[in-house]
Amino acid sequence: MNYSEWADWYDLFYSTESGEEAAFYLEETLSAGGPVLEIGVGTGRIAIPAAKQGAEVFGVDSSPEMLAVAASKAKAAAPLPGGLTLIRADMRTLQLGRTDFALVTIPARTLLLATSYEEQQATLCCAARHLRPGGRLIFNIFNPTPELIFDNSPEPVEIGEAAIAGTETEHGRRFRLSAVNRFDAETQINDATHVVEEIGRDGVSIERARLNVRLRYLFPHEVFSMLEEIEVQVDALSGWFDGSPFDEESEEMVFVASRPG
Ligand SMILES: C[S@@+](CC[C@H](N)C(=O)[O-])C[C@H]1O[C@@H](n2cnc3c(N)ncnc32)[C@H](O)[C@@H]1O
Repeated sequence: MNYSEWADWYDLFYSTESGEEAAFYLEETLSAGGPVLEIGVGTGRIAIPAAKQGAEVFGVDSSPEMLAVAASKAKAAAPLPGGLTLIRADMRTLQLGRTDFALVTIPARTLLLATSYEEQQATLCCAARHLRPGGRLIFNIFNPTPELIFDNSPEPVEIGEAAIAGTETEHGRRFRLSAVNRFDAETQINDATHVVEEIGRDGVSIERARLNVRLRYLFPHEVFSMLEEIEVQVDALSGWFDGSPFDEESEEMVFVASRPG
């Protein structure tokens, strides 16, 4: 899937988030005790603050446009005492030739962007083989509750409103963000379209972008099977980034796993 058209809008979408996910990954990255590999680093939402606070971070992404945004933000945030290395590579076949990472993270449901069982397992396998013995693999994906996957309403789901602050020479801008999901229960594929509308100062909205995302959702038992097959141990499964226990109504699945020592 092509993430290039997302590069201009990605941070705007994430500005509507509570920040709990980013705070969770930041804390895990800072306390990892060694180099950290982030798979699907995107615009550096987590990697840049982590490197700024002293973590040694390697960020992999397949999109040159997303990496270009990350590189430009990293330059603006310099110095990054921990160091941030950005690498263009595909997570499904990743082989950096190192096995010394203390932590590998796959934030923001990125595992689901591999759209078959085999590709998702290959992604987890590639992630795990970069870990040192005892190193940890942390990732999150959404929980496919029946309310979510059987709701095929054509009505857009509101994501929120976001703003870009004005400057001395330009007015601030306001946006409305929404998405339409199309879940297929047989293939476990969701083809979603995210819409960016700009709200003018007269209150009139103008559509600015339509961004597609294809993902394959995963049930918890599939993830457990995948990890078992590649000999990665699940240490914890939480239902949110605060460590609350996972249950069938949880919004998220946050897996903390490790490579046996
Ligand atoms: C949802 S974003 C996550 C970005 C960042 N980790 C964050 O938390 O803000 C997903 C990222 O995964 C990247 N991606 C998608 N498929 C990929 C693949 N096969 N290999 C590597 N990166 C991929 C996209 O380009 C995008 O930057």
